Amino acid sequence: MNGAFLIRTFGCQMNEHDSERIGGMLTADGMTPTDDVADARVVVLNTCAIRENADNKLYGNLGHLKPLKAKNPDLRIVVAGCLAQKDQGTIQEKAPWVDVVVGTHALPHLLDLLRRAEEDGPQMDVAEYTELFPSALPAAREDAFRAWVSIAVGCDNACTFCIVPFVRGAQRSRAIGDVLAEVQGLARQGVVEVTLLGQNVNTYGRDVTVPGASRRPLFAELLRQVNEVDGLRRIRFTSPHPHDFTPDVIDAMAESEKVCEHIHFPLQSGSDTVLKAMQRSYRRERYLGWLDAIRAAIPDVAVSTDIIVGFPGETEEDFAQTLDVVERARFDSAYTFQYSPRPGTRAASMPDQIPKEVVQERFDRLVVLQGAISLEKARAQIGTEPEVLVEGTGPRHSSTQARTRTNRIVHLSEPIEPGTFVTARITGAASHHLAGEVVPAAALV
Ligand code: 5AD
Ligand code: SF4
Repeated sequence: MNGAFLIRTFGCQMNEHDSERIGGMLTADGMTPTDDVADARVVVLNTCAIRENADNKLYGNLGHLKPLKAKNPDLRIVVAGCLAQKDQGTIQEKAPWVDVVVGTHALPHLLDLLRRAEEDGPQMDVAEYTELFPSALPAAREDAFRAWVSIAVGCDNACTFCIVPFVRGAQRSRAIGDVLAEVQGLARQGVVEVTLLGQNVNTYGRDVTVPGASRRPLFAELLRQVNEVDGLRRIRFTSPHPHDFTPDVIDAMAESEKVCEHIHFPLQSGSDTVLKAMQRSYRRERYLGWLDAIRAAIPDVAVSTDIIVGFPGETEEDFAQTLDVVERARFDSAYTFQYSPRPGTRAASMPDQIPKEVVQERFDRLVVLQGAISLEKARAQIGTEPEVLVEGTGPRHSSTQARTRTNRIVHLSEPIEPGTFVTARITGAASHHLAGEVVPAAALV
């Protein structure tokens, strides 16, 4: 197809990864990217279903596209991702101007679907099983120096609040050799940072075997092997689940110099009663024990987390337990969410759904507490001189945004080419970013 395409990505890094593949396929088909929706021949909304406001966003966006489509009947509108998988036929019922609905397992069929839409009108493919890993498709990456690498898709857990197992299916791991080959190829092209992606990286390999052996590869082993790839400087991964976390992963992190000193370790709740109702198998003390072990093995490691407020049945006492764990855990940052019932999940039909005002009030208290801890943690960085990787322009025209190995964002006042490593001296701190200045190379000796 000729013309320009525009992709809007919602949700998590797995969707960012898939969007790069969508862009790769459209580019391979002869199209070019655009930022201007008025120029686009194809608009793709790569959607998220994790919370209700994600749903609302899709239908809002489709509403905005309707008049454009009326003006330009050649415009092709594609809905991809988790909401495509969840809502399926409902999308084209509610928005008949959508040309293609492509579910999470059907991405490789996108170009076919678009071609058929040209001739036969609206198309949908919401197959239930991933035959080809999206990683095998061509990619159009936003940055030349960093890349997402999928190591597994789907999730075998059954957290009662979560829709992901319904829309992404059971876990399927990629063969260890395929992951390594992709990372090696990326490093040869100049990529210096990779983020290994899976819904639960700790169970990576459960469903595949090591070639020539009957045993299953482990995540720790994968980390160590990726660490050997020449040219690569930084390895990140997301996310481990405290339920399946094992000490060999801590050892692999500590001993692999390219693996960054940051871990995203989702707590969800600090109350054992709520964790049980969420069907998360660890308990508060075990979680805190893992944190101690991680911090003891990896000096200066930064820890981020996810917390849900207002899960059905959460009492004031349960919430106090969450605040208590947050006080003790000293997270560097936390993504905090108000519980959102997702259709089909067990929690959605539990009794004692918490009223919105109560959730909001608890949420506000949590945000204040964590904000103070994040700020305290950030201030402790002042005076340090971390290595940072420049990612792009910062908030002001001539400034730069860079990132530490510990995943802290640093704003630098001078413009620097993205993809460059520099040493920064940290001079200021806010809850969500640091300010710094470049330390001239000569000053390092
Ligand atoms: N409501 C609120 N937050 C949710 N999350 C997942 N499902 C829900 C839900 N139904 C949060 C969890 C998860 C993060 C990606 O989103 O904290 O770790
Ligand atoms: Fe990512 Fe989950 Fe949203 Fe899917 S539903 S895009 S897996 S956050």
